[in-house]
Amino acid sequence: MKIGICSDHAGYEYKNRLAEVLRQDGYDIKDFGTDSPESMDYPDVAHPLAKAVEEGEVECGIAMCGTGEGMAMTLNKHQGIRAGLAWNKETGELIRRHNNANVLALPARLIAFEEALAITKVWLDTPFEGGRHLRRIEKIPLK
Ligand code: RB5
Repeated sequence: MKIGICSDHAGYEYKNRLAEVLRQDGYDIKDFGTDSPESMDYPDVAHPLAKAVEEGEVECGIAMCGTGEGMAMTLNKHQGIRAGLAWNKETGELIRRHNNANVLALPARLIAFEEALAITKVWLDTPFEGGRHLRRIEKIPLK
């Protein structure tokens, strides 16, 4: 599976660590930056990641900033993106099972790396339930 990953400076360390673990697990990871711990603006990496998911260049994405909120807000401006912010394993599971989130947003400054990794693994391993949830997510895009 090909996964896009991005972060701002606040998520830089977690992004690199997460990408390394996922590569070891056999995932094909495309890194959209940022490429240093220098302060930068999260939309500059969130928009390219969103575009890659929308166009099918990557199957899904993972985005990190301090709270995860700026990433989620930016990503969800894209009609084809359902970015879910998860801060524990239960939210990681439900944003996939019920919302079929195609991007996972993580709050790098608010959770331990081990928690971010556990959330990511649950999110990747959980199937979308479909049914009534499909009807609901189909109503999300603006007409
Ligand atoms: C950066 O200081 C911080 O504002 C950013 O990482 C993020 O939390 C914004 O949503």
